[in-house]
Amino acid sequence: MMTSDPKLIKNIYIKHYKNFSDPKSILMTPDNHVIYRHIINNSRGETWRRQSAVIRSLFADSRLKLFAKKITENLINLTDSLDKMIDNNNNDKAIDISQVFINHSIDLMANCMFSLKQNTINSVDNKFSQIIKQSTMPSKWRILASLVLPKFLVNVLDMSTIISRKYLDQFVRLTVQELSKRISLPINTGNDDDNDFCQLLMNRCPDFISNKTLDNNTNNNNNNNNKTSESQISDLSQTLTNDELIANIYTLFDSAYGIDYILKILIIYELAINTECQQKCYDEIIANCFPDNNKPMTGQNNIKFDYKTVDKLNYLDACISEIMRLYAQIYREGRIARHDYTDETTGVTIKKGQVIQFSRSAVHRNSDYYPMPDQFRPERFVGKQNKHQLIESAVYLPFGLGRRMCPGYKFTLMTIKLTMAQLLVNYRFLPIPGLTKLRSADPIVEHYSYYPGQLYLKIEKR
Ligand code: HEM
Repeated sequence: MMTSDPKLIKNIYIKHYKNFSDPKSILMTPDNHVIYRHIINNSRGETWRRQSAVIRSLFADSRLKLFAKKITENLINLTDSLDKMIDNNNNDKAIDISQVFINHSIDLMANCMFSLKQNTINSVDNKFSQIIKQSTMPSKWRILASLVLPKFLVNVLDMSTIISRKYLDQFVRLTVQELSKRISLPINTGNDDDNDFCQLLMNRCPDFISNKTLDNNTNNNNNNNNKTSESQISDLSQTLTNDELIANIYTLFDSAYGIDYILKILIIYELAINTECQQKCYDEIIANCFPDNNKPMTGQNNIKFDYKTVDKLNYLDACISEIMRLYAQIYREGRIARHDYTDETTGVTIKKGQVIQFSRSAVHRNSDYYPMPDQFRPERFVGKQNKHQLIESAVYLPFGLGRRMCPGYKFTLMTIKLTMAQLLVNYRFLPIPGLTKLRSADPIVEHYSYYPGQLYLKIEKR
């Protein structure tokens, strides 16, 4: 059963969630790979509660500030790379911005996850970026197989996951390699990588901490380090196993990188074709981030925006919200009824065992809640109260609702705002008639989620 009734969705997500269990993901069948077996998205009951407590703690405000520093480091490479493209583009030709954003998102997550200073944006074919692209991009042949072939044949052909086992294994090897590098290091070195996602998750993994303790003992390292690790273990009521550590490194990387570049492409596209909105965003950034209207000079692209300042950019926030309304990223998710359920508000009955899916795009494009629903109108979201009301009444749900709501939403919003502030203050993005359009990477892949292909634009330095 599929619904787009906000009242029913809200009751299932929040008030009556106990009547439902979370269905297994169609994309990531748990039995098929160690990552899918231990990933939070597939976990239930006590295991989910334990993993959720660990993962949600990564996104506390104090941590986000530290991640903002990492994100701004990577933005310098982004503007350097765009500058080079514009300088080499003597004939004023169209520039495809999609590859730039894909590579920038890989570098950004490499830094936030492992403190790796990749430069994919300037040297595209490095091994790391290949592994990330292969292990996160669904294969259209696998999707096609799951849609048209009988289940037994899909299993025989080992095509029951939309990403090949071989590529997932590569991601596991890469992660294990990064974890092993850290085993021999003392805890809390004061280095940059004390505060990346990988280290923060490792600190919640007793198997790893005891390895470290062992390692520190054998190396006769200073006793304080050992004390820290032992007390850390006993303090931890919320912990991860080794397999969960690796699986959740994958899910965080995949969620953040995968959606980050898509959102950037969509925002730049809409701002390019809605030039007055782009100008409004620019004016707001200048007014809020440059005291006394002290505009940066052309080419001064090493400006560093901070977490607090970009949080004040209300019009930019409204544009981002409007993009997430128009282009709902995760089309469907749902729940399974544990027993027969009749909804008190809508009268709808869901039978025991029945799956009920929520169509996010149908809610987001309903003219009862959004007049002219197919148009880009950021004004709908101007004013915190407006947005709050839309979320409250469950007609705006890009990140889901209730206890399984996306834990990474603040991180995403912060990343996008920092990136957009940096881009809009340095460049003007202009449409090229007949050429600037959103192309889907592939209509089959799009069956699951929207993956943009190229986006051609004219880019001018401000
Ligand atoms: C625009 C960006 C994003 C969107 C639209 C989005 C959307 C969602 C949605 C709708 C869910 C809920 C699924 C459900 O209720 O069953 C979810 C869950 C989740 N998201 Fe996101 N997400 C985004 C970014 C991120 C980021 C940046 C991260 C991590 C760095 C992340 C990590 C997760 C995780 C781990 C879950 C599973 C939570 C659980 O099962 O308890 N997401 N996301």
